[in-house]
Amino acid sequence: MTDRKIVFYPEEKMILTGEKKTILEASQKAGIAIEATCGGKGTCGKCRVRIQHGAREPLTNVEENFLSSSDVEKGIALACQCRGYGNLEVFVPEKGNELSRKLSLESKKVLLDTDLRKEYLELEKPHVHDFRSDANRLIDGLKGKQINPLQLDVLSTIPFILRENDFKVTAVLAGNELLVVEAGDTRNKIYGVALDIGTTTVVGFLLDLCQGLVIGAASRTNKQNSYGADVISRIQFSNEQDNGLKCLQEDVLSVINEIINELTQQNGIDIGSIYQVLVVGNTVMSHLFLGLSPAALGKSPFIPAFSSMTVIPAYALGLEINHRAQVIVLPNIAGYVGSDTVAALLAVKIDKYTGSAMMIDLGTNGEIALACDGRLYTCSTAAGPAFEGAHIYHGMRAVKGAIEKVRIDKTVTVDVIGNVAPCGICGSGLIDAVSELVKAGIINNNGRIMSQKDLDGKIPEELWHRLRHSSSGQDFVLYYGTTDADDIVLTQRDVRELQMAKASVRAGAEILLKEADIKARDLNAVMLAGAFGSFVRKESILSIGMLPRVDERVVYSVGNAAGEGAILALSSENERNHAQYLARKATHVELSLRADFNRSFRDACAFM
Ligand code: FES
Repeated sequence: MTDRKIVFYPEEKMILTGEKKTILEASQKAGIAIEATCGGKGTCGKCRVRIQHGAREPLTNVEENFLSSSDVEKGIALACQCRGYGNLEVFVPEKGNELSRKLSLESKKVLLDTDLRKEYLELEKPHVHDFRSDANRLIDGLKGKQINPLQLDVLSTIPFILRENDFKVTAVLAGNELLVVEAGDTRNKIYGVALDIGTTTVVGFLLDLCQGLVIGAASRTNKQNSYGADVISRIQFSNEQDNGLKCLQEDVLSVINEIINELTQQNGIDIGSIYQVLVVGNTVMSHLFLGLSPAALGKSPFIPAFSSMTVIPAYALGLEINHRAQVIVLPNIAGYVGSDTVAALLAVKIDKYTGSAMMIDLGTNGEIALACDGRLYTCSTAAGPAFEGAHIYHGMRAVKGAIEKVRIDKTVTVDVIGNVAPCGICGSGLIDAVSELVKAGIINNNGRIMSQKDLDGKIPEELWHRLRHSSSGQDFVLYYGTTDADDIVLTQRDVRELQMAKASVRAGAEILLKEADIKARDLNAVMLAGAFGSFVRKESILSIGMLPRVDERVVYSVGNAAGEGAILALSSENERNHAQYLARKATHVELSLRADFNRSFRDACAFM
């Protein structure tokens, strides 16, 4: 078999690949992130790339289904389908910059209460009346503090560092553990990184742990995306492919190393000065990060391999920071309620509310928590990744070019992230669009997009012309494209996807209320967490019936609560302990075991 060369642009990254490999498989080997919502099964049409040079095999049936003739003329191909006859040059479209909607925590001041500290020591040199070992001399210099037995790799460096630096050194300690001994006085350099590993996006925050300040933030698409948009596809890939787990772990670690590199370079910081990394993520992401098999999470009763807080040295994972740094993974609550939810609960101080409060985190998964009279309940809804734009015909994540808001009166007005011509619609835009179309009578209570015949003379003419019949049913044109770009439409299938997602969130929320034996009107707060929750209009989310019936005034966004919680837990040992308390305190309600879930779900499907 002869190897073929594929060069990926704009990175200009070259990879040699076997002739049977698709572009997607080659990109995975090359570490190039191509959005592959269905994990390469040929059902999503999201893995579009452009062949810049080279001949390809004929279009597959899947491509014929998803690509228009103008796409084909432009060289657009589906990466999971396309193979080259020889060498190829492939352009992977930029997925936009996510920072604008994700990272609002930069420059945040935090209260320091960390167990991480440095002590500068000027030690007495050995002499004929002082035979103490180097290690004992150092520990004595720490003035009787309880220090755990030293690890061999620390011990092996001490004699050299002491003598090369005239016995003037800095000891870096985390609790009772001596992490590392450094030359000279480095007390003003203590940094940590808080990481929120999302199924779609990984976000990192760099903290100056001397000043108590978030000094940088960076994010990257999770490279695991090319194995599927949701956690189920990742579990399947890990179970079914040789080296699948290793591959997924390497992908997320490489994204994290890129983030840390960017943060340290931008701030002129030595990576060796990062001594702690605090990690949160959904339970599957935490498993993959640690290289633990998520197999048991893929089937009932969805048991995680671990649930307590876990601390491991950076060198065990290959993180490019101080090799002795501590990597702390916050506890998870259940198979589908992870440490990101724990961090979010910590950030919003859910247990401090008087009365009852609900928090809903809508990302690729939908987690819900309810605090009430000292009790805490959680559940996870199979909301699916519709809110991230997956399984939506023109769906995309909330990045530049995504329609994020829609208003409909006599015509349609859209707001687009980055103020550019739109190329798709993200979750908040989708909810707006459906909410507005229901109000305009264009979508009925059952979620059906009405036809031109149904609405003849009943709606403004401009809107009436936007209704179209397509092979998949009725569509509504949200934005007319140009000669170079297609119209952006909302399809009947999109509406059904949203109905399923919103009904599962609503049903989950109703079941938690039932479990706590309270009514929706008893809720003092309904907090929407996550980037999505920050940008969705609350009147739209309420009008499509995604939330229990509450007053609009009690609904509010709490921003990137998981990221904020990770920052708190990194900067304060008390907060970290409190996170563990919250995780232990939570009673998890497994919706798949609830006989009343299906009825609640059915009731919640309609647009009332
Ligand atoms: S169609 Fe290619 S990844 Fe889904």
